[in-house]
Amino acid sequence: MAHIAPSLLAAPLGNLHRDLSALVDAGARCIHVDVMDGQFVPPISFGADMVTFAKSVPGTFVEAHLMTIQPEHLIDSFAKAGADRIIVHQEVSPHLHRVLGRIKELGISSGVAINPATPLSAITEVLELADLVLIMTVNPGWGGQPFIPSCLQKISNLTSIIRERGSSTIIEVDGGINDETIAPCVKAGASLLVAGSALFRGNDLKASYSKLQKRALETSATV
Ligand code: DX5
Ligand code: ZN
Repeated sequence: MAHIAPSLLAAPLGNLHRDLSALVDAGARCIHVDVMDGQFVPPISFGADMVTFAKSVPGTFVEAHLMTIQPEHLIDSFAKAGADRIIVHQEVSPHLHRVLGRIKELGISSGVAINPATPLSAITEVLELADLVLIMTVNPGWGGQPFIPSCLQKISNLTSIIRERGSSTIIEVDGGINDETIAPCVKAGASLLVAGSALFRGNDLKASYSKLQKRALETSATV
């Protein structure tokens, strides 16, 4: 079954606690925190405190998407802040095996993300250490960008690799996820879909979440 993971990047900060509670009420569990360092990507966004804040709402499973260089220096502090999953980018991690191993050593879920330009071959050697692979469907750095359709083939190819290996690695997609792009992603094998602007742009957050989640569930039922 596929699920929507709300990204807080597009959320208006003034109502964050109210909005998070509304999302959890509507059934959301996995909350996506985008961490940008101004180096791997130009903007600077949230730090570990945002993870602690998101965990303060009962019922959340919080994943930190580290769009940062040298993620190995941040892992322990994000785990301490309460992250249930830490996702690091392949492009910044020459010692990816060690970094993913460290995340698992801390007893939390591990994820590896790849940009649209990065081939799957860059992560196949570490797949057994990744509980989740995040396929970026936009170039990281900003919310509100259009979905890059050529990423769908990468999702299908990863689905085949995971099936061949008989592993339970989760495939997550991030960027440009909306009512139209959910179905092709789920059909290609994604089961976790990060959504930022598609959720927070409207004026009824619960209704937007429910609409996207319904699309994800309906499509999973046909796969
Ligand atoms: C982009 C971030 C995304 C972002 C997605 O670099 O990793 O998680 O919040 O935003 P939307 O859903 O607006 O594309
Ligand atoms: Zn993200």
